[in-house]
Amino acid sequence: MRGKFITFEGGEGSGKSTQASLLAGRLRTLGISVILTREPGGSPGAEMVRHVLLAGAAKPLGAEAEAILFAAARADHLEKTIRPALERGAWVVCDRFADSTRVYQGAVGKVDDTVIRALERVTVGDTRPDLTIMLDLPAELGLSRAAGRREGAAADRFEGEELAFHAALRDAYRVIAAAEPERCVVIEAEPPPHRISDEVWTVVCARLGAAQVETEPPAAPPAPAGASEPARDVVAVP
Ligand code: TYD
Repeated sequence: MRGKFITFEGGEGSGKSTQASLLAGRLRTLGISVILTREPGGSPGAEMVRHVLLAGAAKPLGAEAEAILFAAARADHLEKTIRPALERGAWVVCDRFADSTRVYQGAVGKVDDTVIRALERVTVGDTRPDLTIMLDLPAELGLSRAAGRREGAAADRFEGEELAFHAALRDAYRVIAAAEPERCVVIEAEPPPHRISDEVWTVVCARLGAAQVETEPPAAPPAPAGASEPARDVVAVP
């Protein structure tokens, strides 16, 4: 049976990475095979594109070119990591996915919606998330959390944008959530991480029946030819 595909979305400092990792851990305790991954990145090719994008090297080319690069990274991530995992029955928990392009490059970066939709059609196709958790936080709070996390290091390409940019991101996520309530759930990201994690878990169980999976034997990943070790279920991202 195909695994489930769960994505986390939200602005800077909303705690997506922490929550994605906590969810992956909880799913594993049920015996579910889980891939924890992120965008941009999650496959060797996509990680190379990540460095170009987050260093700001593509910024002079404009938001449309950046959208195309994010899409190129996503295509590789889907082909090399996400689809093979889902096909062998693993669950995929991904920190950011196509909604980030819709919001950062589309709604806020002003790339035409037809371009964003076309890129999504050719990259994502039918591999849409079964569930998207959107962590919602006032932009000021998210930015100050992100700055604290950096401990004095320079902001990356998007963290460095001004407050209005980040407030617009938040609005754009809410518009997507309202338009696709069957896929998206908004969770307030101000409470402490363990409380958010409990809320995420309640949503995952209600929407995807994670707790039911406990009664089914986990799907064994096929061993690669000649390999004696079990296939790894964590994508190493640098
Ligand atoms: P990252 O270091 O992964 O930070 P975060 O914790 O915010 O996820 O940075 C990824 C950055 O790339 C983030 O600022 C959002 C941006 N981004 C886009 O602009 N478009 C996209 O499609 C994706 C996946 C990310």
